[in-house]
Parts: sequence; C-alpha cells; structure tokens
Amino acid sequence: MVANPILTLQDLWKAILLPVSIMTGGLFLRVAYITFFGPLSHVPGPLATRFMDLPMKRATLKGRKMYYLHELHKKYGPIVRVSPTEASVVDLAATREIHKITGGLQEDGVEHSARRRLLGQPLSESALKVVQPLVHERLQLAIEKMKRQLQEAGYMDVYKWFHYMSADIISDLSFGQSFSLLEAGEDNQYIKDLSKNDAYSAYVFELSFLFKLLKLWPFTLPIQRELEETPKRLLSYAKIALDKYYHNQLQGGRLTPMLFSKLFKARDAGGLTEQEMIAEAASNILGGGETVAVTLAYLIWAVSRSPSVQARLREELAAVPDDFTYEHVRSLPYLGMVLDESMRLYNTVVGGSLRRSVPEGGRQLAGYYIQQGTTVAILQYSLQRDGAIFKDPEAFRPERWETPTQEMKDAFLPYGLGTRSCVGMHLANMELRISAVRFFKVFPSIVMSSAEGMSDDDMEMMNFFLVAPKGHRCLISVPSLVDK
Ligand code: HEM
Repeated sequence: MVANPILTLQDLWKAILLPVSIMTGGLFLRVAYITFFGPLSHVPGPLATRFMDLPMKRATLKGRKMYYLHELHKKYGPIVRVSPTEASVVDLAATREIHKITGGLQEDGVEHSARRRLLGQPLSESALKVVQPLVHERLQLAIEKMKRQLQEAGYMDVYKWFHYMSADIISDLSFGQSFSLLEAGEDNQYIKDLSKNDAYSAYVFELSFLFKLLKLWPFTLPIQRELEETPKRLLSYAKIALDKYYHNQLQGGRLTPMLFSKLFKARDAGGLTEQEMIAEAASNILGGGETVAVTLAYLIWAVSRSPSVQARLREELAAVPDDFTYEHVRSLPYLGMVLDESMRLYNTVVGGSLRRSVPEGGRQLAGYYIQQGTTVAILQYSLQRDGAIFKDPEAFRPERWETPTQEMKDAFLPYGLGTRSCVGMHLANMELRISAVRFFKVFPSIVMSSAEGMSDDDMEMMNFFLVAPKGHRCLISVPSLVDK
C-alpha cells in the first residue's frame, strides 16, 4: 500500500517541524529577553556577553582568561559583564563587600565554615612548628639536586625542584609519607596528573555541554577517558591519605603532624561523609603543592633579572646564620618586600575563577545594583596592577613596599580575604621564606639561563584555575660558574 503523501507531510510537521519551530521561537524569545532585561543587562560589557559566555570560555580554554578580563576592565571600567549572569569586578570597596567576614558573599555557608575550622587548626602557626624540620630537610635535598644539575648541565630548573619539594612536603603532611619525588628526580603519576589537572578541569567545566553530549555516544574517545581518569586518580590519592591515617592509627604510629587529623575525627563523629572527606583532602593536596612551587619559581626568576635586588638581598642575608630557623627569617624586611612584590605581579591565584554568588537582597557593587543570584568574581590580577594604586604597576620594584599606602595594602590579597581565604597561608609563608633564604644564601648571584632555548616567554603566566609558567620550567644559571 502506498502512503498518502499529504498525510505524511502533516505527520512530519506535527512530529518534527512544529516542535522545532516552537523550541526555536522559545529560544529566540529567551535570548531576546536576556539580552534586554537580563540581570546584568545594565552593566557595561561586550555586546555578545548579553546573551552568551563564549568569548570568556574561549579565553579560559586557551589559559588566557585573566588577560582577556584585564583588557575588558581597561575598556569598560571596574565592573564588566562577562556573561548574562556573571560579572568581573576590580574595585577596592566591592572587594571588601564581596569578601567581608560577616555577610560576605559565599558559594555555600554554614557547612563550609564548620569544615574550615577543622582544617584551620592543623594549619595554624603554632601547629606548624612541628613541620619546620620537614621543610628544612626537603629543601636541603632540593638544593643538592639543583647544585648537581648546575654542575652537570650548567643550569638548574628551579621550577622542577621546588615543585618536587612542595609536593613531597604536602604528601608527607597528608599521607604521613612523602612521595620522595626529590629522590626519584622525575615525575610520578601524581605529578603528571597534577600538572594536567588545572587545564583539564577548565576544559570539563567550560565544555560541560559537549561532554554531556559525548556521553550519549556509544564509544569513549581517548581524550574523554583521559579527562575523566585524571581527576579520579587525584581523588584516589586523597582516599589513600585517609587509609594511611587509619593504618597509622592502628599501628599506633605517627598521627601528627597530619593535615587532616581533625577532619578524620569529624568523620568518625558522623560530621562528614567519606566523599566529603575525600573532596576536602584533594583540594588541600592540590592547593598546597603547586601554589608554593609556582610562587618560588616566579620569585627567583624576577630576582634573577635584577642585580640591584640581588645585592640588597645578599646584604640582608649575610647576617642570617647558616643553621637558621624560621624564627630568624620570618620578619626579614627586604625579603618580605621581595616576596610581596613577586606575589603582587606573579600571584598564583589571580581571581576570575573564585566566583561568589550575590545573596538575598542583592548588593551595590562598583556603582551598580547587582541582583541576588548573580555571580561575581574579583579579578585580583588587575587589582594588583591598578596604576592608580601601584605606581608604574608592571615594574618589579620591591622598594615600593617600604612605605605602602593603605590602598596598596588593601588591594594586595595573594591569599584572598574573608571566609574563604587561604587556610594554608602560614604553611605557605614558612615554606616560601625558608626556601628563598636558603636558595639565595647558596646561590647569591644568579641569571636566567638561555640553555635549551629558555627565555622570558617560558615564564609567561598561563591561567586556568591557578597560574603556572607557560614553559613549565625556570632555568637559572650562576654567572660565576659559567665564566670559569
Ligand atoms: C603561595 C602559596 C599559596 C597561595 C598564593 C594561596 C592562595 C589561596 C587563595 C587566594 C585562596 C582563596 C580562594 C578563594 O577565595 O576561593 C586559597 C584557599 C585555600 N588554600 Fe591556599 N594558597 C597557597 C598555599 C596553600 C597551602 C600550602 C595550602 C595547604 C595545605 C593551601 C590550602 C588552601 C585551602 C584548603 C583553601 C580553601 C579554603 C576555604 O575554602 O576555606 N593553600 N589559597
């Protein structure tokens, strides 16, 4: 029997064309509504961001989000719409409002502060006293490795060795046993995963719609597998940390110092689920390793380009005994200025990804009313380069911190501010100061190496969630050795 062609067309219309037309019309109306009446339609920003976030996604996937946002702020001012529901902010008063301790903007509330208390105590300054010997011991080995590489190759990769050092320290504190990366001298799976994870998380977050679609596909592409497996493996390290803790507890062995002791106890008391524990441990391991290594690499690179800064450091460090402790170096004034200036320009957490949700009642930010539920993020990268606050902002000039203005102090927030600021700050400060002092005492005069094609380009900041040097290396040489 031959089908009636008119009926078939009607069926086709009903089954496909009509719903598609309705959906397209609905989508069009929605886009038109968001474009003209969306929650941020009154805030300045590129036209496209009225109805989409593709330009920001593109910049994020290329690791250039902070540069993209920085340019937008130059053009549009202290608050910029970056998507129909998200604004980037570079403004001191708004920073205080967003991050203030009571009533600040958060992603989650009560639960987070309870967890933070559990983590904060093991990372407090007094608790970290016991960690100092571990830092000295790992640092000593890192310096030995650098010396050897310098002798053999004529340069040392300070990024690599400090990366291994900080990962060894954080793994020791988390797992009760170090990864011993310094001894091995090469990447283990953890380091490989860690260095890929930042970019991978950005891909998965920004292209979530694509990954959802790919899930419908019966086959798994190798890149899909890699993107899924990496974070899973990182979570599994956190699981190992939990198991290690219980093993130690059963053996009556070392229970301290470990970062998560209080969290474990909270779990035992029914306060946290296993999955919450794992997520908490993973964020600590990630946040505590990479940040310190990247900060040290940028600090040394910046100093290597300035003979006058090296001369002043040499002068200050001459009075520090060879067997110094943190107490000897925690208040060294010039070292503090060098560190601050380095973290001002080469901060590992530049913002833009540290999103906050505007709570009930909305907020007035940088001259605009921003309604409840809108996402806002302070762009620390631009705040710390604001020419109205920091004179000649792109110049590396530690001396500017000799007499800082109140505005400079307020704008400089390398560890964040408020209820979500860095709980690892004291540990980080100790690692940074002890490492910098030891490094410059052993290598008082350095330059950037040009071996293996190393150039300033390698140090360009790539920005996914954290910042890392584009070349994933920082080769430094010692002129007195090269001249010989
Ligand atoms: C130079 C080194 C470091 C820098 C620049 C840094 C920076 C930051 C910043 C800016 C935040 C705030 C994020 C936000 O506002 O959402 C943060 C949070 C955090 N950091 Fe660090 N950090 C460093 C080292 C460490 C270390 C060594 C640890 C410890 C193990 C650590 C653990 C954490 C944790 C757990 C959070 C989340 C806190 C919370 O959600 O309440 N960080 N860090």
